[in-house]
Amino acid sequence: MKTCPRHPALNSWGDHDRDNPFPLFAEVRSAAPVHEVRLADGHPAWLVVGHDEAKAALNDPRLSKDMHAALAHSGEVVAEGLPGPAFARHMLAVDPPHHTRLRRLAMPAFTPKRVAALEPRIRSIVDDLLAALAARGADEPVDLVAGFAFPLPFTVICELLGIPEPDRADLGRWFADLLAPYAGPQPPARAVAASDGIVGYLTALLDRKRAEPGVDLVTDLVVAAERDGALTEQELLSTIFQLVVAGHDTTTSLIGNGTVALLRHPAQRDALVADPGLMPRAIEECLRWDAPVPHSTFRYTTEEVRIGDVVIPAFAQVIVSLAAANRDPARFRDPESFDIHRTDGGHLALGHGIHFCLGAPLARMEARIALTALHTRFPAMRLAVDPSQLHWDHGDGLVLRGLGQLPVVLGAPSVNFSTHHSATCITGSRRCSG
Ligand code: HEM
Repeated sequence: MKTCPRHPALNSWGDHDRDNPFPLFAEVRSAAPVHEVRLADGHPAWLVVGHDEAKAALNDPRLSKDMHAALAHSGEVVAEGLPGPAFARHMLAVDPPHHTRLRRLAMPAFTPKRVAALEPRIRSIVDDLLAALAARGADEPVDLVAGFAFPLPFTVICELLGIPEPDRADLGRWFADLLAPYAGPQPPARAVAASDGIVGYLTALLDRKRAEPGVDLVTDLVVAAERDGALTEQELLSTIFQLVVAGHDTTTSLIGNGTVALLRHPAQRDALVADPGLMPRAIEECLRWDAPVPHSTFRYTTEEVRIGDVVIPAFAQVIVSLAAANRDPARFRDPESFDIHRTDGGHLALGHGIHFCLGAPLARMEARIALTALHTRFPAMRLAVDPSQLHWDHGDGLVLRGLGQLPVVLGAPSVNFSTHHSATCITGSRRCSG
């Protein structure tokens, strides 16, 4: 196997220690900001780990997101992952002008103003989930991923899109199976079945929205497609698929990874409980310190591109380690320390450039409401297992990094749970029937 000439020990990337990859990231970054590597699946790629170089790469229009266009010239065949080509044409898989067009169509749902209007409903979902967990007893271990960190963002994105409540359990299970990591070149039968389920479900959902329009983002996109041909059927399906994935898995990991970071730094957690006004800054530190998306999605050079002092050849795959860049000592003071009072911003956990996270205002608000409610209501919360038993085994570990389970003991609540319940769904309609 070919080794990286700038770091001979680094002959493959992506098969690192999932529970604590940070020492390796630091070692590789201190050797050089850009490396030629071989991915765990055998494909060659260029890996960017320095902060300045990562920003430059994410901002460079010669790094294309359109795998098919970029690699058509090279003859390189890259395996099409699940769920396949029908869902592979969303804004994160294309370049301008298609990117601009697709992003604009979804953008109105994610403006700070539209997102702020969702706050009461998100608070209500948080209240209900925490009440259900607390009902299981102050001293009973509960899984915070299954009971809180996953259902909150999943419910929010389903309501925004107009996915009816009775359909969500199947859909949630399929996405969990689809995003579960696997060894070897072929996805397991479970992932293939999940992929088929999602393709069939979302295709049928479009037909339902055409027949019975709702007050939701899927209806808006269907109307745009029918009214002025603003997007094709493939783009419509791909966009909805990408919004479901991007809209829940990442935020689940932010709530989980952030909670672990806080529980491991009790003095900072106490400060936060005493002054929840510190939460927005604490969330930025959680994003920097343990990025839910540790690496960008792939990019492809359309010509020779110099990044830092390295010239990457044309038609090469490039992957940017957001997590490594987020701990670059050239950018952050004492970067390996978790510090919710940190004032040196500029982390790349939400990306950079034209593909900067569209859902950032929503993710930040969900995390603020969720983490504030969780930690202020349960100030005595603690891990139910030794930290060494926590495993970041959800997601592929490269583009998605999250805990499979987060067992905690909530302890006695500090105040009574809110009894506020809202019968309306996130888009303002009385029932989320789609
Ligand atoms: C903590 C939660 C989140 C994190 C860490 C996160 C992270 C990211 C990152 C790193 C990118 C850029 C990927 C790249 O350039 O390769 C991205 C793009 C994107 N994210 Fe997020 N995301 C989060 C939540 C959300 C939510 C809640 C939504 C939507 C409901 C969302 C929708 C998107 C979309 C649509 C893009 C593609 C934007 C484009 O291509 O122009 N994300 N996200």
